[in-house]
Amino acid sequence: MSRILDITQDNADRFSTGTVQAKHHFLESGLFDDDALAELIEGYPEEHMSIHTTTLNPDGVETWRHGSIKGRTGADVVEAIKRGKLWINLQHMEEVAPRYHALVARSFEEINEKNPKLKHMRHNTGILISSPSARVLYHCDISPVVLCHVRGAKRLWLYPNTEEFISNHSREQVVLRETEEEVPYTEDMDKHAQVFDLQPGDLLSWEMQAPHRVDNIEGLNVSMTTAYYTPEAMKQYGVIYGNGVLRRLFGMNPKSVDALIGGIVQAAGKRLTEQGLLP
Ligand SMILES: [Fe+2]
Repeated sequence: MSRILDITQDNADRFSTGTVQAKHHFLESGLFDDDALAELIEGYPEEHMSIHTTTLNPDGVETWRHGSIKGRTGADVVEAIKRGKLWINLQHMEEVAPRYHALVARSFEEINEKNPKLKHMRHNTGILISSPSARVLYHCDISPVVLCHVRGAKRLWLYPNTEEFISNHSREQVVLRETEEEVPYTEDMDKHAQVFDLQPGDLLSWEMQAPHRVDNIEGLNVSMTTAYYTPEAMKQYGVIYGNGVLRRLFGMNPKSVDALIGGIVQAAGKRLTEQGLLP
Protein backbone atom coordinates (compact mmCIF):
# COMPACT_ATOMS: atom_id res chain seq x y z
CA MET A 1 0.00 0.00 0.00
CA SER A 2 1.37 3.43 -0.89
CA ARG A 3 1.99 5.92 1.88
CA ILE A 4 -0.73 8.41 2.76
CA LEU A 5 1.56 10.94 4.43
CA ASP A 6 4.83 12.69 3.67
CA ILE A 7 6.15 13.84 7.02
CA THR A 8 9.70 14.57 8.11
CA GLN A 9 11.21 13.01 11.22
CA ASP A 10 11.29 16.44 12.93
CA ASN A 11 7.60 16.99 12.34
CA ALA A 12 6.72 13.47 13.49
CA ASP A 13 8.76 14.03 16.67
CA ARG A 14 6.94 17.31 17.37
CA PHE A 15 3.47 15.86 16.75
CA SER A 16 0.95 16.82 19.47
CA THR A 17 3.40 19.17 21.21
CA GLY A 18 4.11 21.89 18.65
CA THR A 19 3.36 23.16 15.17
CA VAL A 20 3.56 20.41 12.57
CA GLN A 21 3.35 20.60 8.80
CA ALA A 22 3.19 17.66 6.39
CA LYS A 23 1.57 16.53 3.13
CA HIS A 24 -1.22 13.97 2.80
CA HIS A 25 -2.78 12.12 -0.13
CA PHE A 26 -6.43 11.98 1.01
CA LEU A 27 -7.74 13.43 -2.26
CA GLU A 28 -6.65 10.32 -4.16
CA SER A 29 -9.26 8.29 -2.24
CA GLY A 30 -12.08 9.75 -4.37
CA LEU A 31 -14.10 10.40 -1.20
CA PHE A 32 -14.17 14.16 -1.54
CA ASP A 33 -15.78 15.00 -4.89
CA ASP A 34 -19.18 16.74 -4.89
CA ASP A 35 -21.21 13.55 -5.39
CA ALA A 36 -19.42 11.70 -2.59
CA LEU A 37 -19.87 14.66 -0.22
CA ALA A 38 -23.57 14.97 -1.12
CA GLU A 39 -24.09 11.28 -0.36
CA LEU A 40 -22.18 11.61 2.90
CA ILE A 41 -24.24 14.63 4.06
CA GLU A 42 -27.56 13.10 3.08
CA GLY A 43 -27.10 9.98 5.14
CA TYR A 44 -25.43 11.61 8.12
CA PRO A 45 -27.12 11.37 11.54
CA GLU A 46 -28.40 14.77 12.64
CA GLU A 47 -26.99 14.45 16.15
CA HIS A 48 -23.45 14.42 14.75
CA MET A 49 -23.98 17.30 12.32
CA SER A 50 -23.88 21.05 12.81
CA ILE A 51 -24.36 23.82 10.29
CA HIS A 52 -23.37 27.40 11.00
CA THR A 53 -23.03 30.82 9.56
CA THR A 54 -21.52 33.94 11.10
CA THR A 55 -23.40 37.20 11.44
CA LEU A 56 -22.41 40.69 12.45
CA ASN A 57 -24.26 41.90 15.55
CA PRO A 58 -25.36 45.56 15.85
CA ASP A 59 -22.43 46.08 18.26
CA GLY A 60 -20.02 45.08 15.46
CA VAL A 61 -19.12 41.71 16.98
CA GLU A 62 -19.29 38.69 14.69
CA THR A 63 -20.93 35.59 16.21
CA TRP A 64 -21.95 32.06 15.20
CA ARG A 65 -25.51 31.28 14.11
CA HIS A 66 -26.78 27.71 13.92
CA GLY A 67 -28.95 26.31 11.13
CA SER A 68 -30.60 23.13 9.94
CA ILE A 69 -30.59 21.22 6.64
CA LYS A 70 -33.92 19.47 7.26
CA GLY A 71 -35.74 18.65 4.02
CA ARG A 72 -32.72 19.33 1.74
CA THR A 73 -30.88 16.78 -0.33
CA GLY A 74 -27.14 16.36 0.05
CA ALA A 75 -26.63 17.88 -3.41
CA ASP A 76 -28.75 20.93 -2.39
CA VAL A 77 -26.58 21.40 0.67
CA VAL A 78 -23.33 21.21 -1.32
CA GLU A 79 -24.70 23.80 -3.79
CA ALA A 80 -25.86 26.06 -0.94
CA ILE A 81 -22.42 25.89 0.66
CA LYS A 82 -20.78 26.78 -2.67
CA ARG A 83 -22.97 29.87 -3.01
CA GLY A 84 -23.46 31.00 0.61
CA LYS A 85 -21.42 31.76 3.69
CA LEU A 86 -21.92 28.52 5.54
CA TRP A 87 -20.03 25.72 7.06
CA ILE A 88 -21.14 22.25 7.94
CA ASN A 89 -19.35 19.98 10.35
CA LEU A 90 -19.94 16.23 10.36
CA GLN A 91 -18.45 14.65 13.44
CA HIS A 92 -17.62 11.21 14.79
CA MET A 93 -16.68 9.82 11.40
CA GLU A 94 -14.80 7.09 13.25
CA GLU A 95 -18.27 5.68 14.02
CA VAL A 96 -20.46 6.97 11.21
CA ALA A 97 -18.14 7.05 8.19
CA PRO A 98 -15.18 4.76 8.91
CA ARG A 99 -13.93 4.94 5.30
CA TYR A 100 -13.12 8.61 5.92
CA HIS A 101 -11.67 8.09 9.37
CA ALA A 102 -9.47 5.31 7.94
CA LEU A 103 -7.45 7.98 6.12
CA VAL A 104 -6.68 9.66 9.43
CA ALA A 105 -6.02 6.35 11.17
CA ARG A 106 -3.48 5.46 8.48
CA SER A 107 -1.87 8.87 8.95
CA PHE A 108 -1.48 8.24 12.68
CA GLU A 109 0.04 4.81 11.92
CA GLU A 110 2.61 6.41 9.65
CA ILE A 111 3.42 9.08 12.24
CA ASN A 112 3.82 6.31 14.80
CA GLU A 113 6.29 4.50 12.52
CA LYS A 114 8.51 7.57 12.85
CA ASN A 115 7.55 8.44 16.42
CA PRO A 116 6.74 5.18 18.24
CA LYS A 117 6.54 7.00 21.60
CA LEU A 118 3.48 8.99 20.53
CA LYS A 119 0.36 7.67 22.27
CA HIS A 120 -2.96 8.88 20.94
CA MET A 121 -6.52 7.94 21.82
CA ARG A 122 -10.17 9.01 21.72
CA HIS A 123 -10.14 10.18 18.13
CA ASN A 124 -13.07 12.31 17.00
CA THR A 125 -12.78 12.83 13.26
CA GLY A 126 -14.91 15.41 11.51
CA ILE A 127 -15.21 16.85 8.05
CA LEU A 128 -15.70 20.57 7.60
CA ILE A 129 -17.29 21.63 4.34
CA SER A 130 -17.48 25.40 3.97
CA SER A 131 -18.22 28.23 1.57
CA PRO A 132 -15.53 30.08 -0.40
CA SER A 133 -15.91 33.13 1.88
CA ALA A 134 -16.75 31.40 5.16
CA ARG A 135 -14.67 31.93 8.24
CA VAL A 136 -14.14 30.28 11.56
CA LEU A 137 -13.90 32.84 14.35
CA TYR A 138 -11.06 33.12 16.85
CA HIS A 139 -11.26 30.16 19.21
CA CYS A 140 -9.37 27.36 20.83
CA ASP A 141 -10.15 23.67 20.70
CA ILE A 142 -10.32 21.63 23.89
CA SER A 143 -7.97 18.85 22.79
CA PRO A 144 -5.08 18.60 20.33
CA VAL A 145 -6.31 18.74 16.73
CA VAL A 146 -4.83 17.75 13.39
CA LEU A 147 -6.21 19.44 10.28
CA CYS A 148 -5.92 17.79 6.85
CA HIS A 149 -6.95 20.22 4.15
CA VAL A 150 -8.47 18.55 1.07
CA ARG A 151 -10.19 21.06 -1.25
CA GLY A 152 -10.17 24.84 -1.79
CA ALA A 153 -7.80 27.35 -0.23
CA LYS A 154 -7.87 28.72 3.29
CA ARG A 155 -5.71 30.85 5.56
CA LEU A 156 -5.21 29.82 9.15
CA TRP A 157 -4.03 32.37 11.70
CA LEU A 158 -2.27 30.79 14.67
CA TYR A 159 -1.65 32.93 17.76
CA PRO A 160 0.76 32.51 20.66
CA ASN A 161 -0.57 30.07 23.24
CA THR A 162 -0.12 32.52 26.10
CA GLU A 163 -2.25 34.28 28.73
CA GLU A 164 -2.09 37.45 26.62
CA PHE A 165 -3.92 35.72 23.74
CA ILE A 166 -6.12 33.37 25.69
CA SER A 167 -6.67 33.96 29.38
CA ASN A 168 -6.86 31.09 31.86
CA HIS A 169 -10.44 32.19 32.47
CA SER A 170 -11.31 31.77 28.77
CA ARG A 171 -9.52 28.44 28.64
CA GLU A 172 -11.58 27.20 31.58
CA GLN A 173 -14.78 28.41 29.97
CA VAL A 174 -13.93 26.48 26.81
CA VAL A 175 -12.98 23.30 28.66
CA LEU A 176 -16.10 23.50 30.85
CA ARG A 177 -18.14 24.11 27.68
CA GLU A 178 -19.54 27.39 29.00
CA THR A 179 -18.79 28.92 25.60
CA GLU A 180 -18.67 27.42 22.11
CA GLU A 181 -14.89 27.62 22.03
CA GLU A 182 -15.03 31.34 21.19
CA VAL A 183 -12.63 33.56 23.10
CA PRO A 184 -12.06 37.35 23.06
CA TYR A 185 -10.23 38.64 19.99
CA THR A 186 -9.15 41.99 18.54
CA GLU A 187 -7.62 42.61 15.12
CA ASP A 188 -4.40 44.01 16.56
CA MET A 189 -3.56 40.48 17.75
CA ASP A 190 -3.01 39.54 14.10
CA LYS A 191 0.47 41.04 13.97
CA HIS A 192 1.58 38.32 16.40
CA ALA A 193 0.01 35.46 14.44
CA GLN A 194 1.72 32.88 12.28
CA VAL A 195 -0.13 32.67 8.97
CA PHE A 196 -0.55 29.41 7.05
CA ASP A 197 -1.98 29.39 3.53
CA LEU A 198 -3.44 25.92 3.18
CA GLN A 199 -3.81 24.14 -0.15
CA PRO A 200 -5.21 20.67 -0.88
CA GLY A 201 -2.81 18.09 0.53
CA ASP A 202 -1.59 20.22 3.46
CA LEU A 203 -1.62 18.81 6.99
CA LEU A 204 -1.29 21.25 9.87
CA SER A 205 -1.32 20.69 13.60
CA TRP A 206 -0.45 22.96 16.52
CA GLU A 207 0.04 23.06 20.25
CA MET A 208 -3.00 22.00 22.30
CA GLN A 209 -5.46 24.89 22.86
CA ALA A 210 -3.40 27.44 20.91
CA PRO A 211 -5.92 30.04 19.69
CA HIS A 212 -6.53 30.30 15.95
CA ARG A 213 -9.00 31.46 13.35
CA VAL A 214 -9.56 30.59 9.70
CA ASP A 215 -10.52 32.60 6.61
CA ASN A 216 -11.46 30.70 3.49
CA ILE A 217 -9.79 32.16 0.43
CA GLU A 218 -11.37 30.42 -2.57
CA GLY A 219 -13.45 27.47 -3.72
CA LEU A 220 -15.55 25.02 -1.79
CA ASN A 221 -13.41 24.22 1.23
CA VAL A 222 -13.17 20.68 2.54
CA SER A 223 -10.98 19.72 5.49
CA MET A 224 -10.83 16.79 7.82
CA THR A 225 -10.06 17.54 11.44
CA THR A 226 -9.33 15.02 14.12
CA ALA A 227 -9.48 15.86 17.79
CA TYR A 228 -7.61 13.38 19.93
CA TYR A 229 -5.88 13.05 23.29
CA THR A 230 -2.45 12.01 24.40
CA PRO A 231 -1.78 11.11 28.06
CA GLU A 232 -0.25 14.59 28.53
CA ALA A 233 -3.27 16.24 26.91
CA MET A 234 -5.62 14.28 29.20
CA LYS A 235 -3.65 15.54 32.17
CA GLN A 236 -3.80 19.15 31.00
CA TYR A 237 -7.52 18.81 30.33
CA GLY A 238 -8.07 17.33 33.79
CA VAL A 239 -6.18 20.12 35.54
CA ILE A 240 -8.02 22.92 33.73
CA TYR A 241 -11.39 21.22 34.12
CA GLY A 242 -10.80 20.49 37.79
CA ASN A 243 -9.56 23.94 38.65
CA GLY A 244 -12.56 25.42 36.87
CA VAL A 245 -14.93 23.24 38.88
CA LEU A 246 -13.21 24.09 42.18
CA ARG A 247 -13.33 27.79 41.38
CA ARG A 248 -17.01 27.67 40.52
CA LEU A 249 -18.32 25.26 43.13
CA PHE A 250 -16.17 26.05 46.11
CA GLY A 251 -14.88 29.57 45.48
CA MET A 252 -11.32 28.27 45.56
CA ASN A 253 -8.68 30.01 43.51
CA PRO A 254 -6.24 27.33 42.40
CA LYS A 255 -3.40 28.13 40.02
CA SER A 256 -4.06 26.52 36.65
CA VAL A 257 -1.09 24.20 36.90
CA ASP A 258 -1.41 23.30 40.56
CA ALA A 259 -0.16 19.75 40.58
CA LEU A 260 -1.82 18.68 43.82
CA ILE A 261 -5.25 19.90 42.93
CA GLY A 262 -4.68 18.73 39.38
CA GLY A 263 -3.92 15.24 40.65
CA ILE A 264 -7.05 15.11 42.79
CA VAL A 265 -9.14 16.39 39.98
CA GLN A 266 -7.64 14.08 37.43
CA ALA A 267 -8.70 11.17 39.57
CA ALA A 268 -12.18 12.68 39.88
CA GLY A 269 -12.27 13.30 36.11
CA LYS A 270 -11.32 9.68 35.48
CA ARG A 271 -14.25 8.52 37.57
CA LEU A 272 -16.64 10.89 35.82
CA THR A 273 -15.37 9.67 32.45
CA GLU A 274 -15.87 6.08 33.47
CA GLN A 275 -19.42 6.96 34.43
CA GLY A 276 -19.93 8.57 31.04
CA LEU A 277 -20.37 12.05 32.53
CA LEU A 278 -17.32 13.57 30.83
CA PRO A 279 -16.21 13.44 27.19
FE1 LIG B 1 -10.16 24.90 15.71
